[in-house]
Amino acid sequence: MNYEEIIDMDKQYVMTTYARQPVVFVRGRGARVWDANGKEYLDFLAGIAVNGLGHCHPRVVEAIREQAGVLMHTSNLYYTELQPRLARMLVDWSDFNRVFFCNSGAEANEAAIKLARKWGKRTSPDKFEVATALGSFHGRTMGAITATGQPKYQEAFKPLVPGFKHVPYNSIGALEEAVSDATCAVILEPVQGESGVHPASREYLEAARELCDRVGALLIFDEVQTGLGRTGKLFAYEHFGVVPDVMTLAKTLAGGFPMGACLARGEAANVLQPGDHAATFGGNPLASAAAIASLSAIHEEGLVENARDVGQYFLSKLRELRIAEVRGLGLMVAVELEDPVGKAAAAACMDGGLIVNAIGENILRFLPPLIITRDDVDRAIGILEGAISAVGPVAGARAARVTSSEL
Ligand SMILES: Cc1ncc(COP(=O)(O)O)c(C=O)c1O
Repeated sequence: MNYEEIIDMDKQYVMTTYARQPVVFVRGRGARVWDANGKEYLDFLAGIAVNGLGHCHPRVVEAIREQAGVLMHTSNLYYTELQPRLARMLVDWSDFNRVFFCNSGAEANEAAIKLARKWGKRTSPDKFEVATALGSFHGRTMGAITATGQPKYQEAFKPLVPGFKHVPYNSIGALEEAVSDATCAVILEPVQGESGVHPASREYLEAARELCDRVGALLIFDEVQTGLGRTGKLFAYEHFGVVPDVMTLAKTLAGGFPMGACLARGEAANVLQPGDHAATFGGNPLASAAAIASLSAIHEEGLVENARDVGQYFLSKLRELRIAEVRGLGLMVAVELEDPVGKAAAAACMDGGLIVNAIGENILRFLPPLIITRDDVDRAIGILEGAISAVGPVAGARAARVTSSEL
């Protein structure tokens, strides 16, 4: 099938929930991916932070291949070995005690919301409110879009789940006003990703921790995007010295295979009991094998450290462009252009062989694999520079500002 035929078939048979770019990818390796015409791209989006290990990491490929021939799925009615082995790895490498496995970020957040609701109900039937931040993104299921503080994702689907309050991100005063004895949880991304890479301040997360402790609410960090090395620490909460009660993960967890997880610590780890929650596919042997391989590679290949080092280098190179505001932590980076040329700049990058993500009118987001090198960054910067000048000189250019790259 040629390019046009594939795109036509997709348009006819797949629901149009995505505004896809006109490109058909057929193969990937490391930080590179190839389209159906054989054109090579440097992937600075990594499947929206999923391919943290790059495309087709040999260890993940081998683990999936091997496990697929042994045992893929049994349901969670029975014990299998790899699920608790994976849970033990996550527990050993974090501050949490127990894990629930599912298949996506939204599902991980649903689990966290249900856990929090049950946590609150144990104290009082009225303790069910959840505070979340404006500009946040937590997924597309009903609970997750209710938690998501962006009306554009919610309007068509109202009425939403009751009991959610949205507050401006990084405003301690607003959080203090929203949180009360009726609050069962505060859900925050340590760095907001989907809305354009906005890191929280340390004081804000500290205040959230203190407020939750004061009213007996759970602090939940959505680390679906920030987790597993993306920010230059294994988990972003480590940058802030604030440990949540519950943390959600997905994206990079199984190296490209779909998997989500909800981790809890202390008393919160024992709230969900048989019958409370489930996922048919959650943590099946195939997904668990992929995740064990992915976590082992992150650990043994020093990818967290690489994300930190190359992330710093990337930020410094972006700053040298002197045409944009730069925000980032590790390899979670965005530039804000002066003019509304984000989409055109992303398309020009694509033409030049660099995959980036345009957000809104003037933000470009970069989520490259954690394996990238300084040479990859140099190449990306060259393409980006050319793309930005191709879409027109950026009027009123100002010196670059780097925020929150070091906390
Ligand atoms: C912070 C955050 N939470 C949740 C989600 C939803 O994850 P999924 O699309 O796997 O349901 C995303 C996806 O981008 C995310 O960035």
